Amino acid sequence: MTASNSGAGLRGQSAGETAICTVGATGNSLRYRGYDVEALATETSFTEVAHLLLKGHLPTSKELEGYQARLQSLRELPAPLRSVLEQIPKDAHPMDVLRTGCSFLGNIEPELDFESQQDCADRLLAICPSIIAYWYRFSHDNVRIDTDTGEVGVGAHFLHMLHDASPSELFARVMDVSLILYAEHEFNASTFTARVCASTLSDMHSCITGAIGSLRGPLHGGANEMAMAMLEQYASVEAARDDVKAKLAAKEKIMGFGHAVYRERDPRNAIIKHWAGQLAEAVGDATLYPVSETVEAMLWDEKRLFANADFYHASAYHFMGIPTPLFTPIFVMSRVTGWCAHVMEQRANNRIIRPGAEYTGPSARPVPPLAER
Ligand SMILES: CC(C)(COP(=O)(O)OP(=O)(O)OC[C@H]1O[C@@H](n2cnc3c(N)ncnc32)[C@H](O)[C@@H]1OP(=O)(O)O)[C@@H](O)C(=O)NCCC(=O)NCCS
Repeated sequence: MTASNSGAGLRGQSAGETAICTVGATGNSLRYRGYDVEALATETSFTEVAHLLLKGHLPTSKELEGYQARLQSLRELPAPLRSVLEQIPKDAHPMDVLRTGCSFLGNIEPELDFESQQDCADRLLAICPSIIAYWYRFSHDNVRIDTDTGEVGVGAHFLHMLHDASPSELFARVMDVSLILYAEHEFNASTFTARVCASTLSDMHSCITGAIGSLRGPLHGGANEMAMAMLEQYASVEAARDDVKAKLAAKEKIMGFGHAVYRERDPRNAIIKHWAGQLAEAVGDATLYPVSETVEAMLWDEKRLFANADFYHASAYHFMGIPTPLFTPIFVMSRVTGWCAHVMEQRANNRIIRPGAEYTGPSARPVPPLAER
């Protein structure tokens, strides 16, 4: 690393203040408004966490009941949006579908002023699963699904739309935990994108559309899909061992490992690993879970690299019958809570985000006439 790029990736630099989340502030902890993610994943539902992030506090039972009913009432897709979704081809990337869906919603239900920002956040949270499931089922199965499933939880609602049936209690719980784990993560790339956009006093849909674009990349949200693509190639633990060894020797990156902030472990990994194990047992898996454990042990033994939140999400989602291209959109269904919370926080104490840059180009010089270039 040269002196000029010693700040590459802005690693370790504070880019602003937040009261929403701490990542690695005390070792390897993750806290949403002061609550450890482990406790939230055990004691609460995703709807409670969404309320915590968006409204600032964990709901009372009465508030929770009201919020659940409110989100259920906001799931319906307006006809013009359905018609847009029906035109998107089957082979489009589902993240592109979500990006378009969110952006289009901004045309037909614009955020007219910041007074309505909470309504806008609730609508986005409620409608994202409908957008992705409607497009997926229409383009792949040629059916126009009913987005009124009657399911209370966001995860159960999504699985119901995808599979045309109410999910098992285990599947519904794992989806809920998964959404809790992905809900918020301080100034990560997509959240920072949303905040930069918010700092120009732009509208909520633009902020969230930009964040979806940032999350799409394999170094960020796309890692769980890439991890699955790798894992499903291995028919046995031995095959996994040989291939990962070769990948490490070739200095290839293994998706689902490492982290820009955590140094020893990602606190979300143990939680989703536990649930992936439960799912493996429930579906009678004898390959994917042992293969995942083997890869995890190898990366730690040989490179001291730990599995991040994405790694066991790959097998967990696969066991629940979720197609791999839908993995990152599930991340959006959850992270939209954190993004909207950050947009509102940015607006509450705003100054346009405009960092400087270290110039490395040519010195000042005259423009040569066209004929002399
Ligand atoms: C998350 C990530 C982008 C962080 O990047 P970063 O902050 O630049 O990573 P670090 O500085 O900790 O990397 C240290 C070293 O470990 C290596 N490394 C990091 N993650 C690795 C991985 N998943 N596989 C193999 N090697 C990895 C880096 O190449 C680097 O090696 P070098 O010093 O020889 O160049 C990176 O770990 C990564 O690309 N992981 C895979 C994608 C992923 O899972 N993303 C989801 C994150 S939640």
